[in-house]
Amino acid sequence: MKRLHFGADYYPEHWERGRWEVDARLMQQMGIQMVRMAEFSWHKLQPQEDVFDFQWLDEAIALLADYGIYTILGTPTAAPPAWLIQKHPEILPIDREGRVRGFGGRHHDCQSNPIYREAIRRLVTEMAKHYGENPWVIGWQPDNELGNSHQELCTCDSCRQHFQKWLEKKYQSTEALNAAWGTAFWSQEYNDFAQVPAPRITVTGENPSAMLDWKRFCSDLIVDFTREQTEIIRRYAKNQFITHNYMGFANKVDYYKLGELLDIVSHDQYPGGFYLSQTPHEYNHVLAATLDIVRSYKNQPFWIMEQQSGITGWEIMGRAPAPGQLSAWALQGIAHGADAIVFFRWRTCTMGTEQYWHGILPHSGNPGRRYQELKELIGTMEPLMGRLQGSMPKPQVGIVFDFEQEYAFQIQPHHQDLNYTGQLLKYYQAFYKQNISVDFVPQQGDFNQYQLLAAPLQYLMSPELEDKYFNYVRQGGHLILTMRTGVKDLHNLCMADRELPGKLSELAGVEVLDYDCLRETHVEVLFEGQKLQANIWSDLMRLRPETKILASYASEFYAGEPCITEHSFGSGNCYYVGTEPGEELMEALISQICRKAGVEPICVPVPEVECMTRENDKTRFLFVINHSSEAKSYTVPQGYHLLWGEQAGKLGAYEVQILEIEK
Ligand code: GAL
Ligand code: ZN
Repeated sequence: MKRLHFGADYYPEHWERGRWEVDARLMQQMGIQMVRMAEFSWHKLQPQEDVFDFQWLDEAIALLADYGIYTILGTPTAAPPAWLIQKHPEILPIDREGRVRGFGGRHHDCQSNPIYREAIRRLVTEMAKHYGENPWVIGWQPDNELGNSHQELCTCDSCRQHFQKWLEKKYQSTEALNAAWGTAFWSQEYNDFAQVPAPRITVTGENPSAMLDWKRFCSDLIVDFTREQTEIIRRYAKNQFITHNYMGFANKVDYYKLGELLDIVSHDQYPGGFYLSQTPHEYNHVLAATLDIVRSYKNQPFWIMEQQSGITGWEIMGRAPAPGQLSAWALQGIAHGADAIVFFRWRTCTMGTEQYWHGILPHSGNPGRRYQELKELIGTMEPLMGRLQGSMPKPQVGIVFDFEQEYAFQIQPHHQDLNYTGQLLKYYQAFYKQNISVDFVPQQGDFNQYQLLAAPLQYLMSPELEDKYFNYVRQGGHLILTMRTGVKDLHNLCMADRELPGKLSELAGVEVLDYDCLRETHVEVLFEGQKLQANIWSDLMRLRPETKILASYASEFYAGEPCITEHSFGSGNCYYVGTEPGEELMEALISQICRKAGVEPICVPVPEVECMTRENDKTRFLFVINHSSEAKSYTVPQGYHLLWGEQAGKLGAYEVQILEIEK
């Protein structure tokens, strides 16, 4: 595979032909080595059912090649053209209210529709045949941000029938389905799979077991939709890679499973998205976590396929990135394991929904501040990228992240402010603030490579997963379990054979006999002699005699009872957290547990300064990122020397330094 590191998302079809060469020259001068193109240009490639026109794209690829620039091709299946919709309106998706969603945006498609699938097979086959051996095409991106815009879609007849088949394969008989879904409740028994609906809004309430299977089905449908394309591409394009642009923690499709179809995971990173809170220090840890989850999906270096390159905006806009900030965000991606950064987009578009989603070039097309800044970044970083390539962060801490747990909490959040990913991020934040780097780990993953494993909200539980936790701790691991663990089986039915957290109570040394959902209030907790705050939930527990109490409740009718505990088991320790610790309590708790587990920070924490390492067999690289507009100092850890930057230990606004140490 070609080792390319910097690129731009390019839409030549939005501009006059005469401009293309100017773009190519400006890109070359800036150090851009690749572009992604065509992921929304179905109509341009197939203007009518029986007319394919690849000439414009051939010309664009060839012209860019003259300037040494390679191409990644998107398949344009996120934007089915009007002629196709007119002829087959049943391709349009139907939402949970039963409304047909119309043409005029994107992703106006039903991914199970056989006619749509046939049209896609035809187009993708033509494209793969045509470009599969073009040496200037290095890779493919099927569709665009799969799962985006499809959150509640689609409930059409085709999707209903596919869901029924999926259920039939899984359960074989309606008796098994009825048992798994607990349909005895409210007379929901099915006599025939053909009676099962795709879940439209109901008069009242939903069956949580049916909803969990529906979400699993929707995820599998996207994987299947993608597989159809990757199979075609692989048939004709033997030396080109396949990637897809993920969206961090987006949860419609199980990204671990999708990743099995791909050579590389990519991601779209918009730290200044207009839809985010505009006070960056509140979400620096979220940006970091987003990059860590993306690396974790395939546990290998990833690419950024869309990296913010200016003000974001659709109807409203985000703030202008300050000088240096675009570079700092791009380098943050590299620090967390990105091997390549593709900036979105080359030039700000004059038409359509994204007129205010600013690119490297402004509307006028004249290079300005952003072009100069990113040119300088590429010019100085490119010589280093080869050395960084393939190196990985090697965290001592893992946080377990699983899509089915996420789905189960979407269905029943318990508390208006509880959500699965948000809860994981609260744990993540405490590690982040202490400069302790983290991997996310799938439940099927290898736990043993981590000294400390945090597994919040392990709500759906299987005997296999229980065994993994027992083994992990038995062999010396430090495990954090929390409230709402072991509550349900994999059908989303409550388990009733013993007290919570079920069999894991032997590992945690606690049994939860009762609990309190902290509506519109919080609880006080006594920890290391201090009264601190906790939220959302209180587990009320009976302990085994050997279980140690780390914190107790200090308010409510259960004041004085245990809240956070520690239990030795085998050669390791299991901590049980019966609440959601507030920020201060979380930090104090995590630092105590890290001490006990022998987990060390990368360097001494400084507020708003992020530290991250990547390493290979020989070298460890340390990235230090100043996320603030103020100068900052940090203590250079012993033995490291400066590889990139001005003066080690002194950071200007948004400055990043890279240091290295031989191992
Ligand atoms: C991404 C998407 C791009 C573009 C960009 C700006 O989510 O993949 O196609 O829409 O956001 O809105
Ligand atoms: Zn459908």
